[in-house]
Amino acid sequence: MPRPLVAGNWKMNGSKSLLIEMANALRKEQLEACDTWLLVPAVFVEFAIQQFDTTAVKVGAQNLSGQAPGALTGEVSAAMLEDVDCRISLVGHSERRQIFGETDDEVVTKTKACIDHRIQPLVCVGETLAERQAGQAKQIVVDQIGRLMEKLTAAEMAAVVIAYEPIWAIGTGEVASAYDAQEIHAEMRRTLSDYYGLECPQIRLLYGGSVRASTVKELLAQPDINGVLVGGASLDKHEFVQICNAAAIAD
Ligand code: PGA
Repeated sequence: MPRPLVAGNWKMNGSKSLLIEMANALRKEQLEACDTWLLVPAVFVEFAIQQFDTTAVKVGAQNLSGQAPGALTGEVSAAMLEDVDCRISLVGHSERRQIFGETDDEVVTKTKACIDHRIQPLVCVGETLAERQAGQAKQIVVDQIGRLMEKLTAAEMAAVVIAYEPIWAIGTGEVASAYDAQEIHAEMRRTLSDYYGLECPQIRLLYGGSVRASTVKELLAQPDINGVLVGGASLDKHEFVQICNAAAIAD
C-alpha cells in the first residue's frame, strides 16, 4: 500500500503570514508516516517552498498551462514551475473545469506537461449532483480517467495521483459516505488495473470534498483510499495538523 497522502488546497486564499504560521505548526509534528503537500496560489509557491524547507511538507501549485512558453499573458508554464523547484501541481480541479471551462483534453495536456517537467500531477475527477442522482457517478469518473489512460503510458500513469472529488461535496460540508467513496475508488482502481496491469495498486487515489479531522479516519480506513485532498480545512492550522496526524496514524 502506498503511504497516506494529505494534500491541502488553499484555492484563492491565504497569505505569506498564514504560510509562516502553517510552517511553524507543521514543523512541530511527527509526520514521517504520511506525505503532506500544500497547494498554494502560484504567487506564493517560491515563498512557501522556502518556509517549508526544513519540514517534510512539499509545496505544489494549483494549476499550470499545458502550453509551451510564449504569448499567453497571465499563464504559468510547467517549465516555470520546474525552474522554481515546484515539483507538484493540481490539475483539472472541478473549479477549473466548471468556472474556467477546462476540458478533458486540456487536463490531459496539462498532465503530460507536468510529467515532461518532472512535476507530479494530482489530477481531480468527480461527478456533479445531477450525475450522481442519475446513477452516472461511476461512469463519469471512469470516463474522465479513461481520457488520461488513452494518452499516458503505465510508467507515466505511475507518477500521477488521482483525487476523486464529488462536486456536490466540495465546500458544502456534505461528505460522501466512506462506503460511497470506497465504491468509486474501487472502481477507479479496477479500471486502472484492467488497463495497465499490476502496478496499479501503487497508484495513489485520494478522496476530496469537505474532509475534516472528524471524518478523515473513516475515509482512510477504506482499502482503496490512500489519502485526502483538503480545501477549506487546510486553511485552519489546528484542523489541518489534526488531519495530518490522523493520516500519519492510519499508515
Ligand atoms: P473542500 O474542498 O475541502 O473545501 O470541500 C476540497 C477541494 O476543492 O479540493
